[in-house]
This record gives sequence, structure tokens and C-alpha cells, in this order.
Amino acid sequence: MTPARSEAAGKPAIISMRGLRKSYGIGTPVETEVLHGIDADLAEGEFCALIGPSGSGKSTLLNLIGLLEPPTAGELSVAGQSTKGLNEQNRR
Ligand SMILES: Nc1ncnc2c1ncn2[C@@H]1O[C@H](COP(=O)(O)OP(=O)(O)O)[C@@H](O)[C@H]1O
Ligand SMILES: [Mg+2]
Repeated sequence: MTPARSEAAGKPAIISMRGLRKSYGIGTPVETEVLHGIDADLAEGEFCALIGPSGSGKSTLLNLIGLLEPPTAGELSVAGQSTKGLNEQNRR
């Protein structure tokens, strides 16, 4: 696989998102998909603004990027390493 790059920064990506989805309330009558498949690449030192109305999922995405919550689907890589299946200790 070719390494992910941030086209905007013209550098390799340090954070790479592929098809990230997040739902809350899975298995309940009010299951809600908040993130619908995010693809993005961010380079070290790159400045990026995450904008959107209240409730659009900004904090949810930051919680995923910070490894505080797992995505429902998709893949998040940090420094070229997939975060799938990392245990609590390795998520820090
Ligand atoms: N822990 C949670 N459980 C259930 N729903 C949540 C939870 N966190 C956020 N949500 C819902 O997800 C949506 C996006 O919220 P959030 O990521 O906080 O948006 P933003 O930060 O853009 O205002 C909202 O509808 C919110 O109610
Ligand atoms: Mg928020």
C-alpha cells in the first residue's frame, strides 16, 4: 500500500482516516450515525480547521482521532500504524 499523504501540505500523513463512521445508540430504537465515512489525511505540523454547526460531529471526530472512542467502521492510522485492535495501554 502506498503511504498516505496530505495533498494540502505536500507531506506524508501522520493521521490518516479512511471511511470513518461513528454511530451512537447501536441496538436501541434511537441509533444515530453521526459520522458517515470520513476520508482525510493530516500531516505533522499541518494546520486544519474543523468547522460545522453544533451537533454535526466535530467533537465526535476529535474523540476518534484522540483514540478516546473507537470508530464504528473504517480505519484510523497514526504514524503509519493502524489503530485497529490497539489495547488501552497502546492507545495512550
Ligand atoms: N456519547 C454520545 N451518545 C449519544 N449521542 C451522542 C454522544 N456524543 C454525541 N452525540 C450526538 O452526536 C451528534 C454530534 O455531536 P458532537 O460530535 O458533539 O457535535 P459537535 O461537536 O459538532 O457539536 C449530536 O447529535 C450529539 O447529540
Ligand atoms: Mg463539540
